[in-house]
Amino acid sequence: MSAGKTRDTVLELSDISVRFPSGSDWLGRPTSHVHALNGVDLDVQRGETLGIVGESGCGKSTLAQVLLGLLQPSEGLVSGAAASDESALQIVFQDPQSSLNSRMRVWRVITEPVFARQRKSTMELRRLAVELAAKVGLREETLDRYPHEFSGGQRQRIAIARALSSDPDVIVLDEPTSALDISVQAQILNLLDELQRERSLTYIFISHDISVISHMCRRVAVMYLGQIVEIGDAASLLAHPRHPYTQLLLGSVPTLEEDGLGEFIEETELPSNRRLPSGCFFFDRCSFATEACRQPQQLIDGVRCCRAEELALTAAG
Ligand SMILES: Nc1ncnc2c1ncn2[C@@H]1O[C@H](COP(=O)(O)OP(=O)(O)OP(=O)(O)O)[C@@H](O)[C@H]1O
Ligand code: SF4
Ligand SMILES: [Mg+2]
Repeated sequence: MSAGKTRDTVLELSDISVRFPSGSDWLGRPTSHVHALNGVDLDVQRGETLGIVGESGCGKSTLAQVLLGLLQPSEGLVSGAAASDESALQIVFQDPQSSLNSRMRVWRVITEPVFARQRKSTMELRRLAVELAAKVGLREETLDRYPHEFSGGQRQRIAIARALSSDPDVIVLDEPTSALDISVQAQILNLLDELQRERSLTYIFISHDISVISHMCRRVAVMYLGQIVEIGDAASLLAHPRHPYTQLLLGSVPTLEEDGLGEFIEETELPSNRRLPSGCFFFDRCSFATEACRQPQQLIDGVRCCRAEELALTAAG
């Protein structure tokens, strides 16, 4: 979205929490909960690519499921133009091997989301599959094959065609290229780029890979233990991360030993999402932690760290 254009929110999450029950006692009651999302506020603007990064288990896929309406949050509200419209939202998963129905011919796989929701004749569905196959660079004569007969990259093209079939506004891409070779990755990213321009699609792009995020996204949200700890313009966030966790993630840890701040990061275990810390969730791993950090941290001006401003000043010298 260009600067100056009015904001057009397609999806909005307000204070979303998701807890999964875990274990059970003799009465079948859960003995604990996994706190997968903990108070997530997020808006998605029409036409943008919003990146979501964070290490394994931080809640990225859970967030995707909530955005898609596939998972009811324990708390909070999902709203926005696309929220009430199933066909407006689609997803492409990391592993097209397991996400595509292996017993269906490719043209059926591609048109499945449409078949499920609209009354279309076989001929109409077939025609749609041919059109979408061409869009994603699949040859028409491959449409009668089965997904397992394709390479990883081609399967991901099938998954993208499938996602496009209901003419969605928003596509969630959950690690769409992580399982692919580098050269194939680039082809798929280019394809996604092209399709976005052509169809004014909104992408929510989940990835571990910072270089992919930096290539694809205008805005990026960094997640830690089910919270957004930093969010903002991708270029400036990646060049000047403000949250100590983002700095760790990007490997751009400032050396502040001479200022007496000591080693940046303690080698500690990831805190468990079964028992959340009461203050800053990053407390145990952050060596900038002080008493003030024992208070719950709010996301202020795009960063969830009460020391962010002070640390930036220190780093700037
Ligand atoms: N259906 C479920 N039942 C119980 N726990 C779950 C369920 N789905 C996810 N979790 C837990 O919630 C937390 C967040 O999981 P999620 O899959 O959202 O993480 P992620 O960031 O997508 O990780 P990855 O990068 O490995 O895909 C994890 O601790 C996970 O084990
Ligand atoms: S609030 Fe404190 S513990 Fe948390 S990231 Fe900031 S400095 Fe570190
Ligand atoms: Mg995931």
